[in-house]
Order: sequence, then structure tokens, then C-alpha cells
Amino acid sequence: MKISLSAATWDKCAADVVALAIPSAKTKFNKAIRQIEAVTGKGSIKPLASDERFEGKATQTLKVVAVGGAKARWLLLVGIGDETDAEKIAWTLGHTLASTSRAQKTAAVKLPKVTVASVRASSQGLAAGAYRYTEYKSDKKSSGGLASAVILTAPTSRRGLAAAIKTGRSLAESINFARDLVNRPPNDLNPITLARAASSESRKLGLTCSIWNKARIKKEGLNLLLAVNAGSAIEPRVIHVTYKPRNAKKKVAFVGKGLTFDSGGLCIKPAGSMIDMKCDMAGAAATLGIVFAAARLKLPVEIHAIVGSTENMTGAHAYRPGDIYKSLQGKTVEVINTDAEGRLVLADVLTWTARKLKPDVMIDHATLTGACMVALGPWRAALYTDHDDLAKSYLAAADDEGEAFWRMPLDEDLRSALKSPIADLKHIGGRYGGSITAALFLEEFTEEMKWMHLDIAGPAFVDRAHGRLPKGGTGFGVATGVRFLENL
Ligand code: BES
Ligand code: MN
Ligand code: ZN
Repeated sequence: MKISLSAATWDKCAADVVALAIPSAKTKFNKAIRQIEAVTGKGSIKPLASDERFEGKATQTLKVVAVGGAKARWLLLVGIGDETDAEKIAWTLGHTLASTSRAQKTAAVKLPKVTVASVRASSQGLAAGAYRYTEYKSDKKSSGGLASAVILTAPTSRRGLAAAIKTGRSLAESINFARDLVNRPPNDLNPITLARAASSESRKLGLTCSIWNKARIKKEGLNLLLAVNAGSAIEPRVIHVTYKPRNAKKKVAFVGKGLTFDSGGLCIKPAGSMIDMKCDMAGAAATLGIVFAAARLKLPVEIHAIVGSTENMTGAHAYRPGDIYKSLQGKTVEVINTDAEGRLVLADVLTWTARKLKPDVMIDHATLTGACMVALGPWRAALYTDHDDLAKSYLAAADDEGEAFWRMPLDEDLRSALKSPIADLKHIGGRYGGSITAALFLEEFTEEMKWMHLDIAGPAFVDRAHGRLPKGGTGFGVATGVRFLENL
């Protein structure tokens, strides 16, 4: 989609559809409608709004034929409720416009306030809202979508606004890249092809991408990752992308769970729980999306993305409940349930990252536990860290980007659940607090690093569109990660 600026007023704009923000408070609502009717004619909107019960509430929209003095074909009235943050409104307008437009090709957004931040947010919303997953559709045009959009800025100073479009679009591109990876079916996206995708995107952006095959992974001693891989006919991979700008003052490492398919292994999942398990590499997708966005935005931070990737399958060599393996860290781990594979993969990768890269901060993204969804619902991710400053700045970044996280406790009282009678550790806890015990398990392998764990099992992949999340792979985590890096 082409995104550009225009100084035209919305009524003079000849686009197929123009998006206008409508607040819900009674007097503000009436005033907004009156202002539109000043162009389209008295009584041309109000009765339609009441017919459709459109009250300007958040998530409500009303699409009407533009009549009277308006040059556009359609007006899209976008309810914003009592939102007053101009940046959030700008995002919502762009996103609603791009995600709901089918046959319309050209569009315009009228910003409530023209600032660099609003222009960036509306372009991000437009480009992310235009996302459709069409790789396997023979007719790629059938799902529609805008070809171009203009952001109406009125005759304000344009300083920085073109750059803001580029930034917003770059972010959305990285989010959409992550979505594509998550949506790609597991027969085509496996550890090898995931590594290839990471490496070709790295090449485009001039980043270093090193990929380990199984022999190298053995040599490095990532035995827990190898255990999970044992039942698969496809080799595992470790993918390490480095973005190292000259002016970097901080070094941040992102670690991602890259299970391209999780059957549960021998402790096999029931069909209903297995169907969406191509999404189990969403942590890897977010991790890669963040480093690629940071490179596109040329952020002054050294960033590493390290992904541990394998399938969890049931082949003849599959690892078993009762097996004991020695982790890279040195602790021996007793396998209880082969479906708790993610923490094993992450454990080794976290240890490697902590020891070899010694970053200032280490942050992992993982679709780690169903228990996390039981605790927080399908749209919110869990955030675990012992560092209050890190939690605070991450939650602030998430709030700015409209992604939902909740800080959860690394509850020491639960650690005893990981005791094994015959090994150093058991890899799962008891019936309760499953997301917490998974986080406590990971912590055993972080080598005292400043570390944060994000369990994105819910929002990484959703069965219907919700707020910023499109149906299917969502790219959840990319926007917050980048915003956090920008604020460093
Ligand atoms: N990949 C799953 C977690 C998951 C569930 C992600 C639903 C996305 C949606 C993970 O590997 C898993 O199977 N976890 C088990 C752990 C249990 C065996 C301790 C779970 O949550 O049931
Ligand atoms: Mn599993
Ligand atoms: Zn899994």
C-alpha cells in the first residue's frame, strides 16, 4: 500500500473512502455528526447512525455513502469511545480503514491532531490493518485491500512527517513478516525453512545471520534441544541474527521458542489442541520481527535474536517421559511430559545466550503454556522478571503500542514443585500455577542475567480478530519490543 500526505480537507478529498473519528460522549458525538452534516447535508448522517445504533463507541463503525458536498464515495465513521490519546486514535483510524476496506482502493484518514507520532501511528495502523494472509490462495486479489492511502494533515508544517510514515510502515512490515511466518503451514515452515527465511531477510537488511545445523548444536552441547528434536525427521536449527550499529551503547538479546509444530510428542495432544500448533514458533517470529524492525529503524542498540527451532514429534527416536538429559547449563533434567518441550529448548538457548553474549538484558518470547491462557485469557501475555525497572518500562511500551501484558510473579514458594528425586530438576511442576512453574524452570538456566520471560501463548495466535490482533498469527510482541528498544 502506498501511503502519502495531503493537505486537503476531508470533504475535498476524492478517495474511495475517508475515515473520520467519532467520540461517544453525547455532546461530542452530536458535535462530530453536525460537523460532517455541514458538508453532507442536514439529516444525512444522524438518522442512519441511530438506525444502526452507532453511538461512537470503541470498535463500532458506520459506513455511509458520501453525499452532498463530500468528494469521496464513502465515509467510514470510526467509533473511538472516550479515547483522547491522539496517537491511539490515529492508529485506530488507519487500522479500521485498512482492515475493513474490501473493494475500495483509495482511502484517506483525517487525523484528530497532526503530529509526527500520530502520522507514524496511522501509517502503522494502515499497513498492519491491510495484512491478509494470501500465500496459499490461488486468487490473491479476492481478499481485497487498499492500494493507497493519504493522511490528511491540513496545511501544517510537514517536518518529519514523511519519515514518520516510513517508520510506521517499517514497523508494520516487521509485524507482518512475523504474521506470515506464524501463518505458514508446518509442512512448509520447518526449522530449516525458518532459518532460510531469517537468513534471506537478514541479507536484505544487511544483518549477520548464523545458522547452526544439528552437528553444530551437538558440538555446542544443547542437549535439551536435541532431546526434543529426537522424534522428528527434520533437523533442528539455532538461528542467530545480529544487528550491531556503530553507535550502540546497550546490548539486548531476544530469545525465541521456535517449535514449528508441537504434536506434544509421545504425550501426544488431542486433535483439538493440536490443530493450531503451527503457531508454536510465534516466539521465534516475534524475536526475528523485533531485530528486523530495529534494523529498519536504525535504532542505536546492539540486538541479538536467537531462536531455538525444532518440531516436537513422535518418531521412533522420540524422547520419552522418564528420560534424563544433561542441559548445557550442567543441571540434569528429568522429562515428565514430552508436551512441555518449549522450556527445554529455551533452557539451553538461554544458557548459551547468557554465557556467550553476556547482554545487558535477555528477553524471551514463547508460546509456552496453556496455563497462561487459563490465567489471563486469550489476548493477554504474561510478563515475568525480578527487575522492577525492566517490568515498568516494558509495560509502558506495551501500553503505548496497545498490546496487553500482565506482570506475573516468579513465586519462590512454587520452586519446590520442580524437585526431582533422581535428577537435579524435573521439567514441570504440579497442577497449579503452570505458567509460573514454567517461568521458574527457565530461570534455572539464565545464569543470573537480567532476564525477562514473556509467555505469549494466548495473543500470538487467535481464532478471531480482536482489537489489534488479526485472526491467525498476530505478530504479537514485535511492536512492544521495538518501542521498548526505542525508549532505552
Ligand atoms: N505449545 C504449548 C503451549 C500452548 C498451548 C501454546 C496453547 C499455544 C496455545 C506447550 O508446548 C505445551 O504443550 N504446554 C503444556 C505444558 C504441560 C504439559 C505442562 C500445556 O500448557 O498444556
Ligand atoms: Mn507442547
Ligand atoms: Zn509447545
